[in-house]
Amino acid sequence: MNAEQVLSAVAQEVNTCSQCPLHLARRKAVPGEGPANAEIMFIGEAPGFHEDVQGRPFVGAAGQFLDELLEGIGLKRENVYITNVVKCRPPGNRDPEPEELAACAPYLDRQIQAIHPKVIVTLGRFSMAKFVPNAKISQIHGQPFKVHGQLVVPMYHPAAALHQPSLRRVVEADFAQLPELIRRAAEIPETTLEEPPEKQQPKQLSLF
Ligand code: URA
Ligand code: SF4
Repeated sequence: MNAEQVLSAVAQEVNTCSQCPLHLARRKAVPGEGPANAEIMFIGEAPGFHEDVQGRPFVGAAGQFLDELLEGIGLKRENVYITNVVKCRPPGNRDPEPEELAACAPYLDRQIQAIHPKVIVTLGRFSMAKFVPNAKISQIHGQPFKVHGQLVVPMYHPAAALHQPSLRRVVEADFAQLPELIRRAAEIPETTLEEPPEKQQPKQLSLF
């Protein structure tokens, strides 16, 4: 199967998935969207109200801000891949449970392997935790990590900046680095940590 075929197979499975309790209350599952050859992939948390209605990622207020951020760095939404760690809306937009994250993870892993983007941007703490467990987003946002050859840049969730206007500038500054990171992705060396063990919070970097 080529990358496009993998993505459409994943989407079909997600749309009829009942692997976790989130399938019970969803209207539409939200597999993700974008071209199979995208150089950059954005991974959010979970569908919200509007995403659940439309079956598309980031179409509500946070999505509008994401569109503006992309436009600000000369990227078009149609040219990036956008998805979430959990593909169905948690009731009332509650946080996803560990069991739900675990049940849904294989879909995201297959999407990442198919797209093989130059850069993965994690939006918010749940997608950050997939790659950089135990890290604090306030400490590592905007900092690129290269793990198993994959460049990952953790960023604040756009919704956080909507609730906390002072974060807007921070998110914009982190986004401003992306074009350069896409260009340089291949040259950036694997992240190695030379800090003493008690400071090595991103030590258990794990991909897939
Ligand atoms: N917030 C997310 O994390 N994902 C969406 O798709 C929409 C809002
Ligand atoms: Fe399946 Fe993921 Fe939806 Fe749970 S959240 S039902 S694992 S697609």
